[in-house]
Amino acid sequence: MKLVVANLKMNLAYSDINNYRNKMEDVITDNEIVICPSSLFLPFFKSGKYSLGAQNVYFEDKGSFTGETSPLQLKNMGTKYVIVGHSERRNIFNENNELINKKVNAVIKNNMIPILCVGESKEEKDEKKTYEVIEKQLDECLINVDTNNIVIAYEPIWSIGTGIIPEEKDIENVINYIKEKYNANTKVLYGGSVNVDNVAMINEISNIDGFLIGSASVDISNFINIINKIK
Ligand code: PGA
Repeated sequence: MKLVVANLKMNLAYSDINNYRNKMEDVITDNEIVICPSSLFLPFFKSGKYSLGAQNVYFEDKGSFTGETSPLQLKNMGTKYVIVGHSERRNIFNENNELINKKVNAVIKNNMIPILCVGESKEEKDEKKTYEVIEKQLDECLINVDTNNIVIAYEPIWSIGTGIIPEEKDIENVINYIKEKYNANTKVLYGGSVNVDNVAMINEISNIDGFLIGSASVDISNFINIINKIK
């Protein structure tokens, strides 16, 4: 069974929600689908034939943290997965590995599953530093973390939203590396420009456990076409 995660980012509008939810109800799949809307819209996706995921979280359970959402609140809303350490959080909102590590631990403490994103930039790839970068991200983000309770998403930054994807062999090698170094049982997803045309091909990769899908998950018909190609 594959894990297919829709990272809707800041895209869905209130007026889109009913249609998105209704169309999801008709989906027939053996895979687990996870919908990650903006936290504002989590209640609308609370019950359905899919799991609920959040795009971000703070690490404290409650208190004076204006604008933040706590892991306890997410758990109470029925959230099962939380995306942590997405490159947009790292690059636009200056999240570092230390903060991400606190978030990963807070998510697990509240009995949810973090989807920890890692991946190299174009420059790092050109300098052949992919493995070094991923190793540092994982070592620092996984301090005191039981890797039986997490999902890792390999998301090369140069592939996110660009339409460019790595060679399948490169994805396979990174996934192998992560499983061998950290935990053979940890689910490892691929994310970055997954679309209806390339998903079947990427799905052929022997050790892949699923996908983290951004822009191609926003249009529900398009997302369903993708789901239908993941056997
Ligand atoms: P993309 O985004 O599918 O639009 O490339 C993936 C992600 O950022 O998780």
